[in-house]
Amino acid sequence: MAWLAALLLAGCAPKPEQPSPADIQAARRAAVEFELRLKREITGRLEREEDPVAVYMSYADHTPDWGREISNELELNFSRTALGVRNPANAPDAWESRQLEMFNFYMDAGLDPDTFEIAEIVQEGEETVFRWMQPVRMMDTCLTCHGEKIDPRIKLLLAQEYPLDEAAGYAEGQIGGAYSVRKVLRVKDQPAPPWTPIPAPQTPLADQRLPGDAPLVAPVATPSAEAPQQ
Ligand code: HEC
Repeated sequence: MAWLAALLLAGCAPKPEQPSPADIQAARRAAVEFELRLKREITGRLEREEDPVAVYMSYADHTPDWGREISNELELNFSRTALGVRNPANAPDAWESRQLEMFNFYMDAGLDPDTFEIAEIVQEGEETVFRWMQPVRMMDTCLTCHGEKIDPRIKLLLAQEYPLDEAAGYAEGQIGGAYSVRKVLRVKDQPAPPWTPIPAPQTPLADQRLPGDAPLVAPVATPSAEAPQQ
């Protein structure tokens, strides 16, 4: 009768903790704020047919910092990620990879990615964490830098600054990654310590970077990385 006992126990198991509506609202707000800035300062300029190289410089200089500013404003960790990233600092963790794979799976099954959103409370070691994710789609303007046919000048810049780039070759409408929010709620069942603002990174701006400088993003050695060709 072991199976019956197991069934009864499962019936009595406490329900998993549900994320609070306030945290979900804050996560959505973070994503909307990022999207508005991306529209105003990047894709809007491409729509007005500004030089894509100038827009690229602005993107590489400022976009990583927007995530930091939004995080500090809303006191949560907001970031962007993807299964194949341009900047290794944006690589997904195990929970994010799983959600990204699910997003792709559901899209392939015919569901509308614009309706996808996941919010969960998960235990990560001693931390009880609110996690949230929403996919982002590649639009026409995104393809200037993430598509198959990229302006050769931007290709050069990408090769120089993001030598490990895995975020090109997309077609319009594909899921190009996701917005992700992580907020520690409790540590060892005690309320999380107050938010400590994330400091600004010390990255040189585009007009201070020179050809031959170290890549904007230092390549990270991974055990699976192939040995450089001699
Ligand atoms: C002007 C060039 C340019 C345009 C246009 C552009 N991107 Fe990017 N994208 C980049 C660069 C450069 C990075 C790396 C930023 C960093 O260092 O964090 C990046 C990073 C990303 C990332 C984070 C994951 C990663 O690969 O590092 C996502 C997601 C993303 N872009 C989606 C989009 C979407 C969606 C659009 C259109 C709405 C878009 N991008 C438009 C250049 C561009």
